[in-house]
Amino acid sequence: MRTDSEGREHLHYTDDGAGDVVLFLHAFPLDGRMWDVQKRELARNARVVVPDLAGFGRSMGLTARNSLDEHADDVAGLLDALAIERASLVGLSMGGYIALAFARRHPKRLAALALADTRAAPDTPEGKVGRDQNIALVEREGVSSLLERMLPKLLSNGASDDVRSLVRALGSSQSPDAVKGALAAMRDRSDSTPLLGQLDLPAAVIVGEADAICPPDEARAMKAALPRATLEIIPGAGHLANLEAPAAFTGAVRRLLAPL
Ligand code: MLT
Repeated sequence: MRTDSEGREHLHYTDDGAGDVVLFLHAFPLDGRMWDVQKRELARNARVVVPDLAGFGRSMGLTARNSLDEHADDVAGLLDALAIERASLVGLSMGGYIALAFARRHPKRLAALALADTRAAPDTPEGKVGRDQNIALVEREGVSSLLERMLPKLLSNGASDDVRSLVRALGSSQSPDAVKGALAAMRDRSDSTPLLGQLDLPAAVIVGEADAICPPDEARAMKAALPRATLEIIPGAGHLANLEAPAAFTGAVRRLLAPL
């Protein structure tokens, strides 16, 4: 666990490269290691910060969060600890929900925004029921059962065995408390749709063409509502598009960051 000069605990993170800061927010139920390829590539030209959200991965010792706003405030706290005034955020799926919460709560600290395989809309009533069922499943059978249920939607049929194994390894190692907290947090998240029109900053909406959780129509709607966004649809990729099509995904983030 990392602590700052006053002994307060904060997120585990990696910090590579130099220059403008880009911070990556991971999907559910994974951790910052899902960004290893993007980190390696982009740290050649930028400073790349990758936290494990509280309760997940190597931040497992921190109290699990039950609200996405708390995760967003943790990110602001990490920027404070690193003396970073402004950063670009890249959030995939749950990471995108948190990036939007950050944009709402800390707008002055955001330089550019990539929203990948995510949506601005809140859960539907049926979606909320599904979250409660998944919380009960984790309580009854553990995180691995939830992961096996989710895998067909997290990845496309064409995903490689290596990617499948990585997602299994990362997902099944997460703490039940963090996973249940995140399910409740996603269930209760607010509607970010009205915020999109106010985000007058460079933005990229990125989506796998075969994303079964946040399909391309969601991405098109966000692109249309954001004042300065591009849309990048990655052919063949599923929900975890950065893992299935790392080069295409990294290229999309590079194009967002290039003019900064
Ligand atoms: C994720 O990939 O972060 C989750 O599948 C998002 C969600 O369940 O809404």
